[in-house]
This record gives sequence, structure tokens and C-alpha cells, in this order.
Amino acid sequence: MSMDNFRIPDKAIEFEALFAQMSENKKDDLDWKRGRAFCLVYYPGEEKEELIRKAYNMYFTENALNPMVFPSLRKMENEVVAMVANLLHGDEGVRGSFTSGGTESILMAIKSARDYMAKTKPEITVPEMILPATAHPTFAKAIKYFGVKGVYVEADKNYCASPKNIEAAITENTILIVASATSYPHGVLDPIKEIGKIAKERALLFHVDACIGGFMLPFVEIITNKEMPFDFRAEGVTSISIDIHKYGYAAKGASVVLYRTAELRKHQFTVYTDWPGGIYGSLTMVGSRPGGTVAAAWATLMGIGMDGYLDMAKKTWGATQLIKEYINQSTDLILMGEPAMTIVAFSSKTIDIFELADELSIKGWHFERLCEPAGIHLTISQIHEQYMSEFIADLDQGIKQVQANTIKQITNKIKVGVMRRLVQVLPEGLIAKIQSSFSGKAAVKSDRIAPIYGMLGVLRGTEDMDEIVLDLLDKLNTPSPKK
Ligand SMILES: Cc1ncc(COP(=O)(O)O)c(C=O)c1O
Repeated sequence: MSMDNFRIPDKAIEFEALFAQMSENKKDDLDWKRGRAFCLVYYPGEEKEELIRKAYNMYFTENALNPMVFPSLRKMENEVVAMVANLLHGDEGVRGSFTSGGTESILMAIKSARDYMAKTKPEITVPEMILPATAHPTFAKAIKYFGVKGVYVEADKNYCASPKNIEAAITENTILIVASATSYPHGVLDPIKEIGKIAKERALLFHVDACIGGFMLPFVEIITNKEMPFDFRAEGVTSISIDIHKYGYAAKGASVVLYRTAELRKHQFTVYTDWPGGIYGSLTMVGSRPGGTVAAAWATLMGIGMDGYLDMAKKTWGATQLIKEYINQSTDLILMGEPAMTIVAFSSKTIDIFELADELSIKGWHFERLCEPAGIHLTISQIHEQYMSEFIADLDQGIKQVQANTIKQITNKIKVGVMRRLVQVLPEGLIAKIQSSFSGKAAVKSDRIAPIYGMLGVLRGTEDMDEIVLDLLDKLNTPSPKK
């Protein structure tokens, strides 16, 4: 395909026509304003969003790369990090950085851990990081980027990290333990206190990934009047990642990585003083940074306040209780683990959960499909207070539809069975098939993809599967031919 079709227009397009085209293009996107997104989007409502947009736009052009030039940005950035550290019970020794998201926060924490331990324990040449199988894939990225060996340990039957398994995996090369507060797939809280104790006793670093839970757990503690010391209250915790652009409701591109000591954070920074262009110092992965994300995060924290967050957390908690009650009384659905806050995952022993997922997708809902064991994941946010009853009604109807649809289920089972055999003899043909199913728009939008998920379960964790996903990423990130 020639890129000639994608020339920058010789003559600028009228702005009005452009916006009309963009609105038209958006028509197929997910309807998050009607609560259809059980992941990806955190919408605080119109009034708050207006505040966040305004703050973003005030710093739309400024670059947060050089803190000397925009002292107002530096002040806001430092205050955001300090407010977040305070939320997570950090003392005056705690230091942190503002980053572009959970991924960057985690990457920075692992890089700092690696470099800090290289200095303090130089005898370790192949550093190891122990992490539960449920840890976010960003840690797999860090393993690939930073040459740290990942030692994955099985979670317990409630999908929580197992201190016993972690302890058993410690070797003389271990530098770091990872746990989640909460985990993304099942929304369960790993036993941070117990793991922290192990880390402290064995003089290891311990990172808590609170990207998803950091702005929800503190409010659930207030709502339930039950302490969940997942943060710096737990001894042994040496770093934490926490996203403001998730349950903090800030504009996308806002997260914080915190360290228990300034010494640990220093290993995150990059300094290069031998450049003809001048002395270069950089805090995190990125160079130029949008001033807007910093300003918007600051305005979000200040403009929502603890009372605003508590109010939104109560709505979210209420919606979570509704779906949990529905699942608990259902004879078809099973709650996966014990959700610590407002993420719920469920599976089924009586029906094919991916068939049910298809029914819900067709009705316009968007959520995650979990593998091994198969399940449906919902990240509930404040907007779902208005839409949970509608979702439950569709869920109820979806279960009945799947039960009535036994013939289709049998057909799908046969398809999966055939594919299982094909995997053994014809992986390339299978790969082509799966790719074409996935790259079609219908499959991504709300077509029935249960059989594909069945097949993917067979290939999970294999090199074939990696190849399929690599090709898929390539396809999705190449423009489609213009009509
Ligand atoms: C627990 C956890 N860690 C890390 C991340 C990565 O965050 P981001 O997508 O902001 O890079 C996520 C995202 O959902 C998450 O849930």
C-alpha cells in the first residue's frame, strides 16, 4: 500500500469541515457517557470535567520539561506529588515524580530498584523480581526493557498474591517483590502487610502497584470503616505507583510514582553533563511533557477535594454492591475472589461466559474478558450509579439468551475442538484465521467472538500467541486503505 493516499493536504481543510468529519468518525466509538465503559474511561460528570478541561487548556502549550522556565508548573507538580504522598500516608522522607501514567510509574520504579540494588548489592549480576501472576503486564514490559529477570509465582485460590509462594521464590539474586493494591483482573487486594514483612526481613525492595486502587481504597476504608493498610503504613513498602487518571478522574496522562526515600528516587533520574547542547537532567522516561496534564491533575485534586472523592466513591461503592448482590444470588454466576473495592470479576459454571460476554457486547457494553479461568471483568466508576440497573437487566437477559442458545454453544464448542486439533498440526493456518477474525472491525466491535476466545485460551502463553498479537498490533497501527 502506498502512503501517497495519506499526504498532508496541499491546501488546509476548513476547520468546520474537519470537526464535522471528526464527529462523524466518532460515531462508532464507545458510548462512555451512557456508562457503557467498564474500563478505560473515568468520567467525573460534566461540571468537574469542565474544570479539568479549563485547567488543561490554560497550560495547553507549556512544556513541563524544564521546571526553571515555568515555575508555576513546577509548583503544581510538586504539590500534586506531595498531596498524593499524603493520601498514601507518606512521611516527610517520601519522594515522588509525576508521570504520564501507570506504565511510566511502574517502569520508573523497576528501573530505580535495579539501579539502586546494583549499587548496594553489586554482587548480584542477574537481578530477579518476584511478582504474582496477576501483576499488570507493565511489569512484563519492565522485565523486557530493563534486563531484570521476572520470577512469576502463582496466586492463591482467591487470586491474591501468596506470601508463602513469594517467600519460597526468594533467591540470593532477588532484588524486588511486587504486589497489587488492587490487582486489575479481579480487583482483589494482595496481602501487602505480610509481604512487606517478608521484604523487610530479607532486605528486599517492595513495590506496591496501586495504579488502579490508590484513589479508591482510601475512600473504601472510610465507607466501610475498615483499615486496609496497602500503602506506606505497611512496613517494608519501598515504592508505590498510583494513577490520578483512573479513580483520581484527572485528564489522561497523570500518575505518580512514590519512593520511601530520596536515595531510592535518585536512581530514577537521568543526568547527562557531557552534551554540547548543555547540561541535561531528566526526571522520568519522557523528555518534553504536556504542561496541561500537570495543571489538570492539580486542578482535579483541588477542585474535587476529599469530600468530592468520597462522594464519588460512595456512588461507585453503591453500584458495586448492586452487581455483587446480583451475582451472589445468581445460580449461574460466580464472583471471582473477594473484591476489595469497586472492581468485580465473575465467571460461570453453568454457561459459557464468553457467550454471555458476546450478548453484553452486542447490547453495547464494554468490559474485559479474563482468561484462565475465563471471566468477565468490570471496573465500576461513579457514572455506573445511574446505569447499573440497566446493566443488570441486560445481564439477566443475556444469561437467558445464552441458555436458550444451546445449539450455537455446541457449534462453538465444535469450532474450538477443531481449532484445538489444528493448533497441533497447522499453527500458521490457524494464525491467519485468528488474525483475520481479529482485524475485522466487526470482531472488535460487537460481533460474537466467544469461539475466538476459546481458541486463544488454547494458545495462551505460547510463542504462536505472541506472534499473533505482534501481527495484530502491526495491523492495528497501520492505516487502513482509503476508500
Ligand atoms: C494495576 C494496574 N497497574 C498498571 C496499569 C497501567 O496503567 P496505564 O494504562 O495508565 O499505563 C493499570 C492499568 O489499568 C493497572 O490497572
